Formats: sequence, C-alpha cells, structure tokens
Amino acid sequence: MSKLDDIVSLCKRRGFIFPGSDVYGGMSGTWDFGPLGVMTKKKIMDVWWNYFVESRDDMYGIDAAIIMNPKTWVASGHVATFADPLVECKECKSRFRADKIADGISESVTTEEFLATHTKCPTCGKENWGPIRKFNMMFSTHVGAVLPEDVSENPELAEKNTAYLRPETAQGIFTNYKNVIDTIYPSIPFGLCQQGKAFRNEISPRDFILRDRECSQMEIEYFVAPDTWEENFEKMRLLQHDFLENVIGLKPENIHELDVPKEDRAHYSKRTIDFMYDYPNGEEELMGLAYRTDFDLSNIQRESGKSMEYRDKNTGESFIPHVIEPSIGVERLFLAVLSNAYTEDEVNGEKRVVLKLPENLAPYRFCVSPLLKNKPELVAKAKEVYELLRKKYVYVTWDDSGNIGKRYRKQDEIGTPKCVVIDFDTLNDDTVTVRDRDTTKQKRVKISKL
Ligand code: GAP
Repeated sequence: MSKLDDIVSLCKRRGFIFPGSDVYGGMSGTWDFGPLGVMTKKKIMDVWWNYFVESRDDMYGIDAAIIMNPKTWVASGHVATFADPLVECKECKSRFRADKIADGISESVTTEEFLATHTKCPTCGKENWGPIRKFNMMFSTHVGAVLPEDVSENPELAEKNTAYLRPETAQGIFTNYKNVIDTIYPSIPFGLCQQGKAFRNEISPRDFILRDRECSQMEIEYFVAPDTWEENFEKMRLLQHDFLENVIGLKPENIHELDVPKEDRAHYSKRTIDFMYDYPNGEEELMGLAYRTDFDLSNIQRESGKSMEYRDKNTGESFIPHVIEPSIGVERLFLAVLSNAYTEDEVNGEKRVVLKLPENLAPYRFCVSPLLKNKPELVAKAKEVYELLRKKYVYVTWDDSGNIGKRYRKQDEIGTPKCVVIDFDTLNDDTVTVRDRDTTKQKRVKISKL
C-alpha cells in the first residue's frame, strides 16, 4: 500500500473522511467528512478566517449565494474559457484530461502535440485517439419551472433559465464589491474574503480529496491601487507562507513556488504563483496566488452598466482597483495536513500509526480515561477531571473502551496530543498520568496543574 492508501484507510477507519454516497457504491469526485473530519476541517477553516480576517483591519468577510445570475459567468469569462482538454480513446471510449495522462504538455495542448507524445490509453493500452476537445467544467442546472421536455421542445426557455453552480467563490466577492464600498467605505488596500463550496465537473477526479467535483475554497480578493500591485503581491506571497508554515504547521521544505508561464495561467491572470506541495503521490498545486488586474471589475462594469470605480478619500482620485487573489482549497490543505502528520514508527517492538497533528488542528486536545473501567471510584474521579478540562478546553474526549494500550493506539491514530489517565494513586495524591502522543513519554502531573 502507498502512503496515500494508508491515509485513505485511516481516514475511513477512524471517521475522518468517507467516500461520498458510500452506501450506494459511491459518487466519483465527492467525499463526506465524518465526525472527526468535520472537527479538523472546521478548525482549518477557522484558523484561516482568524488569521486573514478577524485579526486584521484591512479584511472583511462575505458569504454569497452559490447560484448566481448566469451573466456572472459570461462576464467572468468562465462560459467561454473555463475548460480542460478532453481526449477520447477511439478503441474503448474512455475519456481523459489530456494534460494529465501525457508527460510534458500543458493545459493548452493541441491535438498534434498530444499525438506526438505517443501516449497509450490508461484503460485499454492502445494508441488510437480522437481530437482534443475543450470540455467546460461548470455544472449547469435550470432554475425555476423548467420541465425535462423543455430542453428539447422549448430550448429557448431552457437556455434562458440555465444557471451554474459556482466554479469559484471569487465571483461572489466581485459582484458584492460595490455593495461593500457603498456601505462600509473601506480604505484601499482592502480585502474581501469568502469560504464556501465550489463545483467543477472534473474530467478525472483523483488522489483522494486532492481533485474533487465538489470542494470548498477559501479566497481573498485584495483590492489595491493599480500602481501598487507588485508590492501587494509580494506582501500576500509572504503572508501565505507564514500561514501555511506557522499556523498550519506544514514543513517549508515541502512547499515550492512555481511561477506559472503565460500559456498555463488562467484567462484573468497576468501573474500567478502556484504553491506546490509534496503530497504522497508527488508534487501538486496546493494553492494559487494570482494578479487578476482589473479584469473582473471592468467586466462587471461593462456588463452591468454600473461604475466599479473607487474614489480615494486622500487623493480624490478615482480608479478601478486591481486585485491580488490568494485562493486555497480546504480539501487540498486538509490532505497536506494529513500527509504532514501521518507517521509510522515502532513502540515496544510494535508498529504504531500516529497522526502528529498540530494541537490547534487535532480533533481533540485531550483524552481522559480511568485506568480501569470496572472501578467506580476511578470512573467517578476521571469524570471529575474530564468535566474540569471540558470547562477550559472544548475539545476533550472520553475513552474507557478496551485496555489502556488500545486506547493509546486509537488516540494516536486520531492525533490526540495528550492522554490523561486516572489511576489508584490519583485517589491518594490528586496526580494523573499525562502521556504525550509524539514521544509516548508519561509524566505524573497534579490535577490542578493540568
Ligand atoms: N478563484 C481562483 C481559482 O479558483 P484555481 O487555481 O482554479 O483558482 C484555486 O483554484 C484553488 O482551489 C486551487 O489551488 C486548489 O487548492 C483548489 N481547487 C481547485 N479545483 C479543485 C478541485 N477540483 N478539487 C479540490 N480543490 C480544488
């Protein structure tokens, strides 16, 4: 089994992440977060929100609707260009994303370039390909009373009512930019931040939660005066490193910056740095930092007929702000956290699996147990300690299943940093054993000092 398989198995075994619609045989590209997964996912989202929004004076939150007026996606360029190169094997009819199955080609690959790579079909092994076609990744739906037969009998009505599930949260920010400047009058530079679901009909979802059809994004649109974009881009670049390394705890040596060449950049970007991460299956994009210029606001101004200009209170100057955008997927960050934490070692000659999650992201900070479950006096004392810690820290769990060794193994696998055990000595001297997840060392500590 590869390390990724081990992580997938642990996530399922311990209630972090399950395949979407598992009971019906799954739904490709979707994943469900179980009780422990939800806790860590929420913590990841909360530390991001706290770092980028709550602790800063220049950032504000937004929570926009997922289904937006379809004009949004025409103005943003997504209807015309949000597409991946699709190639079909003429032998077995399997379809693939061309740039993911051939080496050394980019998303803008042509049919000729693809054929020249002599790639064999990953399903049937033959080399007989159709042309490269552009596949738009937006999920579309009909809003309102559109019947299935309208699609063929009344295509105009169907077309008129077509809407999309948002493929990025960013547009909910751009479309609210004017509402925000007209209501809270922020001073430039300022950022609008949003967390929420985004949907992409990926041709080949893969690598567990790395590439999904439904994911959650955390995005910032940072509005700046046009001639200051470079200094703000640099400021945002450094902030992302600080967040990933010092708040999330990823190792700097596993993060690599890739200055994306023009032909591979999104249609709106004049500069993009992808933050690549060493995942178990190789280096992949963790997040992107893009200079979106005034592309989005200018398009909205043109399509809506409403001014998107910002009037600088100090200089009296009016301009359409330019935008720096750091954008990260929660699932990709979650997978980086899991890959960073997943460790196998040996304790007393036995293999041990341990998730060395940082304390701020572990589902629980403490596990409290009585040494023996059938001794009421130990259970009562342990309950007392449990309630005491619960008052101080929300994330405390109780475990009196199996023997103490099994409890430690379980808490190691879910990443609980400290196990607190109540034994007979506790009844005499009010001390407990505190066992450290990473070193497995145990210490006697006074309850009052916990
Ligand atoms: N608003 C800019 C934007 O959406 P992107 O590079 O397409 O840019 C930003 O996506 C981030 O969202 C990616 O770096 C990744 O972390 C996450 N992401 C994008 N597509 C994803 C998918 N199919 N599954 C999981 N995460 C995804």
